[in-house]
Amino acid sequence: MKKTIFTFTLLIAVITNAQQTLLTPDNIDEVIKELTLEEKARLLVGRYDNGKGVPGAAGVIQDIERFGLPPVALTDGPAGVRIAPTRPGDTATYYATGFPIGTALACTWNTDLVEEIGAAIGNEVLEYGCDVLLAPGINIHRSPLCGRDFEYFSEDPVLAGNIAAAYVNGVQSNGVGTSVKHFAVNSQETNRFEVDEVVSQRALREIYLKPFQIALSKSNPWTIMSSYNRLNGTWTQSSRELLTDILRDEWGYDGLIMTDWTDGRPSAERVYAGNSLLMPGYAEQETDIIESVRNGSLSMEDVDRQVRHVLDLILKTPHYKGYSFSNKPDLKAHAALTRSAAPEGMVLLENRDSALPIVNPGKVALFGRTSYDFMAGGLGSGDVNKAYIVNLSDGLTNAGFQVDGRLKNYYEAQRNLREKTKEIAGEWSADFEPVLSDRNIARLAEDNDVAVITFGRQAGEWADRHIDNDFNISNDERALLERVTEAFHALGKKVIVVLNTGGVMETASWKHIPDAILLAWQPGQEAGNAVADVISGVAFPSGKLSMTFPLTVSDVPANNNFPTGSGSDFGDARRNHDYTLHDEDIYVGYRYFTSFDKPVSYPFGYGLSYTEFEYGKPVVRATRDGFEASIDVKNTGNAPGKEVVQLYVGAPAGEMEKPVFELKGFAKTAALQPGESQTLRFVVNSMDLASFNEDSSQWQTEAGNYRLMFGASANDIRATASFNQKKPLTKTVGNVLQPNRQLNRLTRK
Ligand code: GLC
Repeated sequence: MKKTIFTFTLLIAVITNAQQTLLTPDNIDEVIKELTLEEKARLLVGRYDNGKGVPGAAGVIQDIERFGLPPVALTDGPAGVRIAPTRPGDTATYYATGFPIGTALACTWNTDLVEEIGAAIGNEVLEYGCDVLLAPGINIHRSPLCGRDFEYFSEDPVLAGNIAAAYVNGVQSNGVGTSVKHFAVNSQETNRFEVDEVVSQRALREIYLKPFQIALSKSNPWTIMSSYNRLNGTWTQSSRELLTDILRDEWGYDGLIMTDWTDGRPSAERVYAGNSLLMPGYAEQETDIIESVRNGSLSMEDVDRQVRHVLDLILKTPHYKGYSFSNKPDLKAHAALTRSAAPEGMVLLENRDSALPIVNPGKVALFGRTSYDFMAGGLGSGDVNKAYIVNLSDGLTNAGFQVDGRLKNYYEAQRNLREKTKEIAGEWSADFEPVLSDRNIARLAEDNDVAVITFGRQAGEWADRHIDNDFNISNDERALLERVTEAFHALGKKVIVVLNTGGVMETASWKHIPDAILLAWQPGQEAGNAVADVISGVAFPSGKLSMTFPLTVSDVPANNNFPTGSGSDFGDARRNHDYTLHDEDIYVGYRYFTSFDKPVSYPFGYGLSYTEFEYGKPVVRATRDGFEASIDVKNTGNAPGKEVVQLYVGAPAGEMEKPVFELKGFAKTAALQPGESQTLRFVVNSMDLASFNEDSSQWQTEAGNYRLMFGASANDIRATASFNQKKPLTKTVGNVLQPNRQLNRLTRK
């Protein structure tokens, strides 16, 4: 009898105890021991929507009540929280703020501002009951034709990595997570699930992995997202060399690695490679993991290693901490922030005879259909469900301009016509730009003080851009621009072009026609107000290009090895479709144009201001680990402005071929009034000057004299100095991720 009672009591104790092992920061090992294999598999495989996430969010980590593990809600970004704006049977709305796109954030070159915007986005993640924001997207702009460039930051890894770190720190200051994506070399949308990106080890480390490495050195993202594509013959999601040897062992990343939203691939090998979470997740994947452990093809040790990362993440989440979210973030304040921030990323490309700002708002003839349908952001998972978008017509009206009503009516009528034709055409294209008659344009020139023309471009996930009527302006757009300019110039009146685009466009063939060109990008939901603030001088543009605007798309070094949106017959091993050869190697963007002395339309780092700046003499001081430099910048014009100073470094001739110079630092002044100065400081570590030597699998900083160039752009060096690296430095790393196809690598030799 006694034995029975004891056994029964023990059983109760075990059951009670089993129900009582609720996860805490101190008992992870115990919980891992008590989790069944089925439960472990459940933690490693997410779900789109099992009814326990946030409606419209991108997915969840599954809950396990027995251990007090809540569901974890994962939601897209990067330009804001992407959740369903309405819910059945619920009168409340769940709109999120549409912030400027990633490219626009990078063009601010202002890490403090990007951190502030990240903090606002992170607040909306928190208050809408989410735990992790699937952002930032930081893949390198290899080609201007990549459909997702709008989400990404730059052609340069130093700018991209620093902007990424600021964004991550901002978002995570709210106690929610981020997911730096897409790791790695997700450089095209054409055939993105299958394409094999073939890259040299040097280009991989110096260009494509470097932004992630910098981001991890200056922030601690809760998660990293492994990309869809193959890299040198292996899925990135199945590459232990990428996800474990480099990301974890070499860089020391200790957070959670989740896959991009992939199905139909082997699960066990992706866990073995280093993913902690397979998204969006399907029941079959749990079965695959369970069976792989049971048949010995996947070790319990590898499973437990990844389960630990999931539990670590859960412990950090607002859901685990029981945060009671309001569903009422301060959207008004965030809208004001996106409006005030947007001009810092807008790039003034031309401004002949100070055509801008127009300080006395008068009558404006507003041309271009996009003026009345302004775009706040790009398409796909990066498209935020916003409550509204202020178009340019309303923005200019709000700023006190009288927008010509006849034109407004005309374009709105054309929009209705377009809606009808689009039902047939079914796609967005720039070739539909209504061109008014000469007579009407002449009358509008008579009746208005100034002309503003908007050219719009849209792109997004799933597709790369086209060359004609997309990268290049259309015949209709050119005709409109020429005819409007002729009519307004005949009367001594000015013409302003506004570019509302997520990516680079051809500009060389027409930039001489208008008086001013303002690259507004896709500046968030307050778009029209922000652009009107710049046009009227209420705000000033202080953005600089985070990528090169080439003379033609065929000048882009990747162009021969990039799908040009021409489509292709799927299935056969087609170049640029099933695989793409990175023959341009490290010569991406300005590294190519400057090293091969190729002219461009607008260089990397370029951007005008409403004022001028003078650079002082740089002061350079050697430090234990490298050098510090400082330089005074003075506003010598007669309007306020902010200046971005770029520090480029040219290495001494040595055993390795290198680009003529590379960006190694940047800094932006505060708003300087006319006559005001500010000292900008730069700190550079000698290992930041290293190049990657494939033969020895070493980062190498060679000894010798390094040229320091302080530039207003890559083609506008304002001051120089030098730094002597006394002794060579090396850092040996793994000889991994070798290319699987022959590359015909570009060289300066
Ligand atoms: C998408 C995107 C990724 C996004 C995820 C969830 O396919 O590639 O950026 O975060 O799925 O929507």
